[in-house]
Amino acid sequence: MKNLTPREIVLALDKYIISQHDAKRSVAIALRNRWRRRQVPDDLRDEIAPKNIILIGPTGVGKTEIARRLARLADSPFLKVEATKFTEVGYVGRDVESIIRDLTELAVNMVKSEEQDAVKDKAETIAEERLLDLLLPPKKEPRPNNEFSGEEKTLELVKKEDPPEALTTRDKMRRMLHEGKLDSRYVDLEVVDRPTPVVEIFSSAGLEEMDINLKDMLGGMFPKKTKKRKVKVQEALEILAQEEAQRLVDMDKVVKQAISRVEQSGIVFLDEIDKIVGREGSSGPDVSREGVQRDLLPIVEGCTVMTKYGAVKTDHVLFIASGAFHANKPSDLVPELQGRFPIRVELKSLGKEEFVRILTEPKNALILQYKALLETEGVTLVFEDDAISAIAEVATQVNSRTENIGARRLHTVLERLLDEILFDAPETDKKKITINAQYVFEKLKDIKDDDDLSRYIL
Ligand SMILES: Nc1ncnc2c1ncn2[C@@H]1O[C@H](COP(=O)(O)OP(=O)(O)OP(=O)(O)O)[C@@H](O)[C@H]1O
Ligand SMILES: [Mg+2]
Repeated sequence: MKNLTPREIVLALDKYIISQHDAKRSVAIALRNRWRRRQVPDDLRDEIAPKNIILIGPTGVGKTEIARRLARLADSPFLKVEATKFTEVGYVGRDVESIIRDLTELAVNMVKSEEQDAVKDKAETIAEERLLDLLLPPKKEPRPNNEFSGEEKTLELVKKEDPPEALTTRDKMRRMLHEGKLDSRYVDLEVVDRPTPVVEIFSSAGLEEMDINLKDMLGGMFPKKTKKRKVKVQEALEILAQEEAQRLVDMDKVVKQAISRVEQSGIVFLDEIDKIVGREGSSGPDVSREGVQRDLLPIVEGCTVMTKYGAVKTDHVLFIASGAFHANKPSDLVPELQGRFPIRVELKSLGKEEFVRILTEPKNALILQYKALLETEGVTLVFEDDAISAIAEVATQVNSRTENIGARRLHTVLERLLDEILFDAPETDKKKITINAQYVFEKLKDIKDDDDLSRYIL
């Protein structure tokens, strides 16, 4: 884990998200606290519960984006879920415990691929030997196992038993393999067939949600089918290395490590939490929504969830909730849940200045994206500064006159603005297209001045 300081975390988020400093600060503190907690003496460590956060702000101002970027930064298992996806226990649908099951699954995959990376070199060496065996079946008794590799051992064995020609052939083969001269050759390879489709049909019917993992049970009932496939040498090497890596990794250890990682540093991002607020005194779906909130309580507070990998304690999982809270307030959540999210941060709605920066500054800025897209057609797109400012201006205007959808408005405006260019690019003989403020205003004039039109088009 890169132990980033809060300041470094904010800096890293700054590369993608404009403004919203307060929100960045609190998630940075929360992340750093995870690390601090791990340094605290044992007896106190278990007492320190994470301080969960609610991000409050209108649509399209970067709530989800912050979470997404945080996920990349934090080397911790990170899951983003929509609160609206869940239903109260007893109703048809996903129950909230599946959050922890998914998070664990994710952590297992994460640790597994790390471990496989760690044994990559060894796996590749073994894979090479196995491939050579396939290309050049050993004449004498088969090799005792795949474990040994390396030139000297082969030499020893060969000196005693094999005629000298065999050695030279194998070594020649090896050299040709390294030089890529065998790349066009095919070998027959036994590959494990995908699990039987029957199981897939079952799981899509929602059975995956059951605590007893039916999918695995059923999967285990059928013998693993293998089939012979013809593959090219390079692909064979990859498949064999993959197989060997899987064999070299100790899954028990992986699972243990994954569970501990979830328990110690898991982060859950609960999006759209405002949408599970029920209105007082109402019935119907609202009742069920409040039920979801109540189901969330134990998980946020800390409980033990059974997963197919074993029991997972949620006491120290960090929850970051987010919602627009247009029609309601955080205080409309059931009181117990409010109490479990002590940190509230508001995200500001975005104006023209922020739009100018969002268009150009982030590493994945929209303008850069469109430039790159058109570059593939051999067209260089140039935006003059006043054009950027004009686009931001139009977006702000439309946001204030119709619905405020935040930075998402930039997408609709740009798409409209570049519509013709994007359509004509393959046939155009212009190698360079320059866009200035005049072009922007002319292109969008009719639409931005007509509220009804903008409602539909922008
Ligand atoms: N502050 C910002 N800086 C850079 N890009 C932003 C910012 N805010 C929003 N965006 C861009 O706008 C789009 C929508 O943002 P995001 O998904 O974070 O909205 P949100 O706040 O989660 O809204 P909602 O409440 O509708 O879920 C994203 O493509 C994101 O890149
Ligand atoms: Mg969102």
